[in-house]
Amino acid sequence: AFTGVVAMDGPSGTGKSTVARRLAGQLGARYLDTGAMYRAATLAVLRAGIDPQDTLAVVETVERADIAISTDPRSPGVTLDGADVSGPIRSSEVTAAVSAVSAVPAVRVRLVDLQRELIGDGGVVVEGRDIGSVVWPGARPKIYLTASAETRARRRAGELGAASDLATVAADIARRDRLDSSRAASPLARAEDAVEIDTTYLDIDQVVQRLVDITMNGA
Ligand code: C5P
Repeated sequence: AFTGVVAMDGPSGTGKSTVARRLAGQLGARYLDTGAMYRAATLAVLRAGIDPQDTLAVVETVERADIAISTDPRSPGVTLDGADVSGPIRSSEVTAAVSAVSAVPAVRVRLVDLQRELIGDGGVVVEGRDIGSVVWPGARPKIYLTASAETRARRRAGELGAASDLATVAADIARRDRLDSSRAASPLARAEDAVEIDTTYLDIDQVVQRLVDITMNGA
């Protein structure tokens, strides 16, 4: 089985999660969804009734929160203080607040420590915004997934289901990408040595196949 570390970064709605999970399955590797960890931290803040902009209170709450995550690609899931929160972390409330919480440097330090522990001896596909640049600079390969803004909005709306409105989803994605790319602490950015894959005109199987090729043959 694969014993290295694959870094998969990029903005929202590129199909990153689906593709990373399938790649892990094909490689016989583990899968780590770091976005789920930032979402669980955000849920802890919201449940404590704290304003996501109140940095000190955010740090205190996240430091007390017990966040655990499965790295099995067949049964991903995240717990907060021992309870499964895999559903609640996808709520629109969490999505709206997660960029503010994940911009707090002390929150990142805590979660990056946890991520490095989980990566451990490798054999894992790690998905996020700063994996190749900060969390695991030695990852090979480093992948940066992109897609046109319109495609990303359509994919995310598809995930959210019939009740979602395309224009609202597009605005949410644009806002989150802007916040994630402009924050001071570990902004979303393509690592210099990352392979960029534009998924606008590729389906999931095609992207996974390219990633398997790149991982196994470096091409
Ligand atoms: O990947 P997902 O869309 O679930 O990530 C949710 C949010 O978590 C992102 O918008 C970003 O603010 C934050 N995040 C981060 N660093 C990561 C992964 C996610 O800041 N490595």
